[in-house]
Amino acid sequence: MGTDARKVVADGYPAQNVFACDLRQEFLDYGHRLYNDASTCGIHFLTANAFDIPYPPPSDGPTVTDLTSTNVTDVSQLRGQVTHLYAGLFFHLFEEAVQYDLALRLGTLMKRESGSVLYGRQMGAEEPRDVEGTGMFAHNPESWTRMWKKAFTELESAEFAENRVVVKAKFVVPEEKNIVKLDVELPVLYWSVQIV
Ligand SMILES: C[S@@+](CC[C@H](N)C(=O)[O-])C[C@H]1O[C@@H](n2cnc3c(N)ncnc32)[C@H](O)[C@@H]1O
Repeated sequence: MGTDARKVVADGYPAQNVFACDLRQEFLDYGHRLYNDASTCGIHFLTANAFDIPYPPPSDGPTVTDLTSTNVTDVSQLRGQVTHLYAGLFFHLFEEAVQYDLALRLGTLMKRESGSVLYGRQMGAEEPRDVEGTGMFAHNPESWTRMWKKAFTELESAEFAENRVVVKAKFVVPEEKNIVKLDVELPVLYWSVQIV
């Protein structure tokens, strides 16, 4: 519903530079109802499937350079231009191979400059594993780091992944109980993937 995107703006980041995306339009609509800001919120909300971000990325195609533009209608137009990408409670929805595919697609959006960072949190597990009966895969800090190093090796090069990508990941015991409502007790993995 866009709470995190709104928090960034409340903290002072210019709304016209913020894009928020969900597969389901109704969640974005609920966000506007919740915050009563349909006519005042300057954030660009896009309804999109993250798996529609093309991979491999086309060598040309529609991208925008003016990120304050309201002409952005498709997340893939942001290719190579995103400096901060937050993916909260998202990756864990998918199987291991699909998470890797998602990492590649989101990786194409990132600006290749020092300081660009993807970050988020999700259900993890001390030993990486499929979470029975859910279709979800839970990483630990080591497997999560390996996945991103592999992704940036494929996206750029082994040298880039080794020297320019810093992955940080750790388990944090959530203050909120039941942050991830599953029948299994799983730790929450907080992470960042930074280009340096
Ligand atoms: C558990 S919610 C996380 C919401 C928020 N990021 C947070 O941290 O609270 C996962 C969201 O991912 C969205 N989603 C699921 N599959 C998606 C996809 N393929 N592309 C874009 N969004 C998707 C769902 O509609 C849902 O709103």
